[in-house]
Amino acid sequence: MACQLLQGKRGIIFGALDSKSIAWKIAERAYEQGAQFTLSNTSVAMRFGEINLLAEKCKAEIIPADATSVSDLEHVFSRTMEIFGGKVDFVLHSIGMSMNVRKGREYDDLDYNYFLKTIDVSAVSFHKMLQVAKKMDAINDWGSVLALSYIAAQRTLVGYNDMADAKSMLESIARSFGYIYGREKNVRINTISQSPTRTTAGSAIKGMDGLVDFTDRMSPLGNATAEECADFSVVLFSDLSRKVTMQNIYHDGGFSSMAMSLKAMTQYNKSLDEE
Ligand SMILES: NC(=O)c1ccc[n+]([C@@H]2O[C@H](COP(=O)([O-])OP(=O)(O)OC[C@H]3O[C@@H](n4cnc5c(N)ncnc54)[C@H](O)[C@@H]3O)[C@@H](O)[C@H]2O)c1
Repeated sequence: MACQLLQGKRGIIFGALDSKSIAWKIAERAYEQGAQFTLSNTSVAMRFGEINLLAEKCKAEIIPADATSVSDLEHVFSRTMEIFGGKVDFVLHSIGMSMNVRKGREYDDLDYNYFLKTIDVSAVSFHKMLQVAKKMDAINDWGSVLALSYIAAQRTLVGYNDMADAKSMLESIARSFGYIYGREKNVRINTISQSPTRTTAGSAIKGMDGLVDFTDRMSPLGNATAEECADFSVVLFSDLSRKVTMQNIYHDGGFSSMAMSLKAMTQYNKSLDEE
């Protein structure tokens, strides 16, 4: 690609599991746009082996870490700075997991140990990442940190379960930390609220097929794909978005502003006729 929006930028990408992962697409696009970065995921994810293909393609070192472990995160940041001989410019948090969802526990029958794990993995890990980075002074001035969120943070969607609470917290952390990190180091922190996307984590959501179809039909521009999310992430990592911080930005083809579409109204009226 001709333009090199991330030329000279260095970063860390957390959460690429396989070629369907949103983080995978972001890594590919960031690399195309001139970025250098390290990749991180859990040792379990590494055993699947697919991440090695991405690492080879993007000439990136993989640094294993459980994002709930502060010492693991410290290692990721220190090793990355060692590799690049200095601070990073961007960090992607693309991590989510709910044992309650995995085990089919409904929202009114949550296992509280699982619930705390959901919050730790999917939200508190973002705070840990930011706190570690700030204490180590690991991010350059005007650096950009992004996490991936979902509209269930604001609106109730059947089956999203305790991940909705995690996403609300994730977005709140982006604002609270964004204020401090912005004020002190000009580091920007945002979340992208992405359309439902068929990935390993996405497929765990109850009724995913129907949800993807519904949001696609309700959105004037249709669902945003993982590749489109990657394009947008590159812009948010780049200097073209220097004054954007503490925001949750919907990347969803317009879905979040819709209540009733022509298609949905027509369908609804048809079903009424059938009764
Ligand atoms: N797929 C969707 O519909 C959708 C929509 C909006 C937002 N998101 C968010 O996008 C992000 C990425 O998910 P995805 O859809 O690409 O699925 P994915 O399954 O490819 O990615 C989830 C990643 O989280 C990692 N992870 C889990 N526990 C971890 C831990 N303790 N430490 C470090 N990493 C851990 C997994 O190994 C995996 O790489 C998540 O935050 C997800 O909630 C997804």
